[in-house]
Parts: sequence; C-alpha cells; structure tokens
Amino acid sequence: MSAVTELPFETVIPQVESDATGEIAPLAANLRRSFGAPFSYWSRSTGELLHATLQPGSNDPLRGQLARAMVGREPQFIQDEDCLLVLAIPLRLSSGDGIVATAAFVTRPIAADENLVSAAQVLGLTEAKAAEWMSCQTVWSPEALHRLSVAVQAQIEAEIRSRKLEREVEKLSDNLATTYEEICLLHGVTQNLRISADEEHLCRLVLDWLLECLPAESIAVQLLPVAREGENTYKARTASTLLHSGGCPIDNQQFTELMAHLQLNAGCGPRVMNDRATAGWKFTGIRQLIVVSIAEGDRVFGWLAAFNHREGLEFGTVEASLLNSIGAMVGIHAGNRDLYREQSEFLASVVRALTSAIDAKDPYTCGHSDRVARVSVRLAKELGCDSAMLHTLYMAGLLHDIGKIGIDDAVLRKPGKLTDEEFDQIKQHPELGYRILADIRQFASVLPAVLHHHEQWDGRGYPFKLTGDQTPRIARIVAVADAYDAMSSDRPYRKGMDSAKVDEVLRKGAGQQWDPEVVAAFFAAREDIAAMSAQERANLTLDVQQWV
Ligand SMILES: [Fe+2]
Repeated sequence: MSAVTELPFETVIPQVESDATGEIAPLAANLRRSFGAPFSYWSRSTGELLHATLQPGSNDPLRGQLARAMVGREPQFIQDEDCLLVLAIPLRLSSGDGIVATAAFVTRPIAADENLVSAAQVLGLTEAKAAEWMSCQTVWSPEALHRLSVAVQAQIEAEIRSRKLEREVEKLSDNLATTYEEICLLHGVTQNLRISADEEHLCRLVLDWLLECLPAESIAVQLLPVAREGENTYKARTASTLLHSGGCPIDNQQFTELMAHLQLNAGCGPRVMNDRATAGWKFTGIRQLIVVSIAEGDRVFGWLAAFNHREGLEFGTVEASLLNSIGAMVGIHAGNRDLYREQSEFLASVVRALTSAIDAKDPYTCGHSDRVARVSVRLAKELGCDSAMLHTLYMAGLLHDIGKIGIDDAVLRKPGKLTDEEFDQIKQHPELGYRILADIRQFASVLPAVLHHHEQWDGRGYPFKLTGDQTPRIARIVAVADAYDAMSSDRPYRKGMDSAKVDEVLRKGAGQQWDPEVVAAFFAAREDIAAMSAQERANLTLDVQQWV
C-alpha cells in the first residue's frame, strides 16, 4: 500500500472543508484504514467537493457530477478504464445529508510501455505521472473491491446510526432530567398547598426551587395586600411584600413601577421580554424578564417574575410555561386562603358578637370569658396540646358560658346566695349553651367544653355527673381556668380570693373537683397565668400569635 505523503506526482489539492457536523473526518480515516487509500467526499445533492485528499482527480468536477448522478444506495464503479476503476460509496450522514466517497484503484499490474492516456485523463495527470502513480498502487480485483466497499459502507452507516442514537439518547436524557426537575417542583408545590400553610412560606419554597430549575439570576414574588391597613383582619396582609431568591435587580417600589409600566392583568398570560429597549424603560438592571400573575379568576394576589438569563441568552416558552404553571398554582392557593381568611373573619365576628352578648347579660363578670380563654390555652400548652386543640380551647373559653344568655337576669345578677330553685336554673346554662351553638358546624369541636365544663372529677358536677376522664379533656381544662378566674376576680358583692387561697383551693380540689393533671399544669404555669389574667384587653382577637 502506498503512503499518500509519498505520492510521486504533483497535483493541486483543493482547500475544501465542508464538514459542519465533524462526521466526515472520522469517516475518511475509517475508509482510508480499510482500503489503504484516501477518498474524496462529494455532496450527493450538489456534486460539490466537501473533503479533499491527496488523491489524483480529487479536484475533478466531473467526478463530483458522476457522484451526484449515482443511482441507488449500493457502492458502484463510476468510471472504468481497463486497468483503473473509480469506486464510489454512497453514505448518509446523521443529519440525513447524502455524500459520496470516491477513490481510484488499479485493477492489474501496468506494463512498462502501456498506453495510459485514458487512465491519465481520469486521474487528471500526465501519462508519465499516471504510470508512476499506478505502478506503486495495490492491485485490486473488482470483486474484492466491491465486496469490501459493501462491508465498509454497512459498518460506517451502522456507526453513524449508533452515534445519532447516542446523541438522541443524550438529548432525551437531558429533556427527561429537566422534565423530572419540573415534575418534582410542581409536586413539591402541591405538597405545600395546605390551606393553613403560610403564603409567604410557600412562596419562599417556590422561589428557591425555581432558582434551581430556571436559568435565571433571580426569581421574585410580589404579594399584594389583601386587606386595608387597620381593618379588623385575621392574619391578613395589608401592604405589598417582595420576596426573592438570588440577587433581585429591583426593590419592592420598583417592582410596583415595573408592573405599572407593563400594564399586566390577571388573565394576560406570561409576559416575556428579552429586549429591554422599549420606550420609557428605566429598569437598567433588568436584561431579560418573565412575569406571570398570581391570580384566581379576576383577582390578582401578586406577581411572579424571573430576572436576567444566567448565560445571557433569551428566556423562552419552556421557562415561561413553567413559571406560569407555578403562578397559577400559587394563585389558586392564595384565592383559597383568602376565602378561608374571610370565613375565619366571619367566625371571629360571630364569636365576638356572642361574647359581647354574654358580657352584656352579666356585666359583673365582664372579661371573664376572655381570661378563661387565655388561661385555657396556656394550660393546654403546658399539657402539650397541638395547635388545633389550642385554637379550639380559645373558642371554648370564650363561649363556655354562652348558655347564660338564656338565664333570667334576676337570677344571674343576684348578689346574694341563690336558692335551690335559682341554682337549678343556673345549672341549665351548659345545656342551653350547647343548644345555642349546636347548629353552627364551625363550633362542633367547642360543644363538649360548653356542655361539660361544670362536671367534676369525682362525679358531683352537672349536668351529667360524669366522673374522671368520662368528661372530655377540653372541658376539664376549661373547668380549671373557669374556677381560677371565678375565684381570683373581684365581684361587686365580694372581693376576689388572694392567690394563696386560690392555690389552696385548687390543690385540695385536684382529684376531687378537677383533673389532677390539669391542676398540675396550672401550678407549672402559675406565674404566667397570674400575669396574663391581670392583663385586660380591649378587643378580642382570634390571631394565634396573640392568644397568650
Ligand atoms: Fe359556666
């Protein structure tokens, strides 16, 4: 086999290299290794030379035209000059482009005085140079050449297919990884859509996750106010808040100005801006931008934005669509949460109205319900109750004596000792209270406290003479708070007991009148309870942060 660099002829080697995909170079190396000769490569559609080699005739446009005119997918001899064959092997690149590899081969030894005019024409050499070149070539039989070309063509095309499949697998696996991240993100958001979950907490989680998923320098959420300042609100936001992950290029005020500039509304879909050169654009820190609304129906609760592509590229539909999905989910959550807040507000109003009614009915004990509520919650905390139980206990404390609304004023406000008949009337207030609240579903958990807060541990209480833990725990807790406040508060007709006396009564009554465990909790939190009882409040609040 001859080494190309030692070719004993002069030829013009075209400076051609149209190997955009980088596939032709390894392919050329493969063919050269298999045949021991270099090939030239032509575009099958245009006949243009794509990759030149040190091969006689490699710059011959005619050979390109012959390659272009080839029929079928099989290797062929496109020129046959007695002792010289030009082999053409059609190949298909992974891009789908067809190319043809050509090379000249000698098919028998050349005699010293042989006429080589035709062969020299094919090779583009003088007769003498052609003789010189042909004399140092390997002699091939056409059959062997054809068989080898068919085998090599199959092997190369299999390799091309395999590389193409590898690239597709890589691409799919990249897509899969991105999709998986998106699914994880959406799953994470849905897992945190509990209606009681704090909105800002959810947004902070979303911001951190989105910053990992999206190629943005910063993700930000502006939450808009849902209530006016000074409104009697139940944990409602009264001013806009900007939360962000990554270095946000604008502050809350500028975010508001940006939204005014963009003139977005609830149903406008994602807004993508990759060109900041718009009229009146003053947000110089923003190069690229996606904004979506956090809305439910027509109501906008805030805006979710991604700022500045991390690689300086443009944001596209993939990023916008993910942000839009998250914005929609957070929007639905915000809407539900606001509805929940409104319901809670309404419930709080009902509770306030009912406690006002109790206070109006029995002004001597004004503030008693509020204190019992707070002391009950403090006892429950001491007993390790969960937040739902604390909430129920607060309501139970406020409403435990609601039945007194149905008792005669003369009996209720009687300063002196009650007769047996009068006391029998008073003893009806737990059942009366139960009946007043029984039809309000939201008060279902409070009913056991209303009905049983006068039961005693030893079974001598009323209305059902329940003993020990037959009495619901919530009622046993309210009973201690109720007794403590009743004993320690002043009345117009008597002074409240001093704390030592109150403690003595409670200690003696533990295991008789009251649940000993609750009394123990009382003494564990004694100082706190005395301090909070001394503190009167103008307004009742159902805000968990202000219970105790
Ligand atoms: Fe009572």
